[in-house]
Amino acid sequence: MNTPVTAAAPGKIILFGEHAVVYSRPALAAPVSQVSARVTVTPDPTADSNGGLRIQSPAINLYAQWDSLPPKNPARAAIQSVLSELNLSRPPACTVRITSSIPVSAGLGSGAAVSIAILRAFSAYLGSPLPNDRINALAYEIEKLHHGTPSGIDNTVITYNQPVFFIKGQPIETFQVPVAFTLLIADTGIPAPTAQTVGGVRQMWQAKPQEYERYFSAIGKIARQARKAIESGAPEKLGALMDENHFYLQKMGVSCPELDNLVRAARKAGAFGAKLSGGGGGGNLIALIQPEKAAEIASALEQAGAARVIVTEVR
Ligand code: PMV
Repeated sequence: MNTPVTAAAPGKIILFGEHAVVYSRPALAAPVSQVSARVTVTPDPTADSNGGLRIQSPAINLYAQWDSLPPKNPARAAIQSVLSELNLSRPPACTVRITSSIPVSAGLGSGAAVSIAILRAFSAYLGSPLPNDRINALAYEIEKLHHGTPSGIDNTVITYNQPVFFIKGQPIETFQVPVAFTLLIADTGIPAPTAQTVGGVRQMWQAKPQEYERYFSAIGKIARQARKAIESGAPEKLGALMDENHFYLQKMGVSCPELDNLVRAARKAGAFGAKLSGGGGGGNLIALIQPEKAAEIASALEQAGAARVIVTEVR
């Protein structure tokens, strides 16, 4: 009988370049280790000789045989892709238990993190832990099932668990952070499915291609400047770049009054700059802060309506 295996995957934030990255502009993202998805695979001694894999996800009250789930269910798809990758026709009798502290539909990569933790834990349980490039490729296919046209940035930053400079379809570039910097991540508490905002941007881009191409290029330029600032040890320059990036995201129609309100509150409380992070329309924003001001700015954001505030250091 196989021995139990646990794998974890962190959350993520997009630092710069969301949405424009779908249109092949660069974006920067970093892992967030304060939250994670965790998957444990254990043998199931109660199953009959035909085996059968059970998925348990207590947070969403899911207890099911994997093959009774719809084919597009991401957990089922992750199990299936490991089986296909390893040329197996069916899984052994085991239980795959999923837990996660990453808020769902909040732009923190919860879906990709769960997929990646399943791919890692299940392949390791079967004795063939998949390398990162395969994990990343399989997780990207699963992202496509529910995001439509994902850029691939979420699965990449979470798989490699390092800050990445990402251009769709190009080799992965991680980057150095010689001077660490501190961010507050504040949640509007409004669930915002990425597919919806990505679809909205696509419609607008089709209606006004020149205008939207200009926004994407301006954002791509900001992402490149941000990478330079980080790599040259001047992360304090990121505040102004965040403000600028948020301005274009507003123009593109992916912010919302609650995000704008929290962005304003963060700046007023002393953040160097702030912007929405991820798909927008709700979800999270990030603000660049001095670490010693974290408690003060966090409390200002809570008073302004933030549902949750996380402090993280990018290094
Ligand atoms: O998963 P989210 O909400 O962080 O959004 C990902 C970023 C987008 O650029 C909006 C979409 C994508 O696939 O890159």
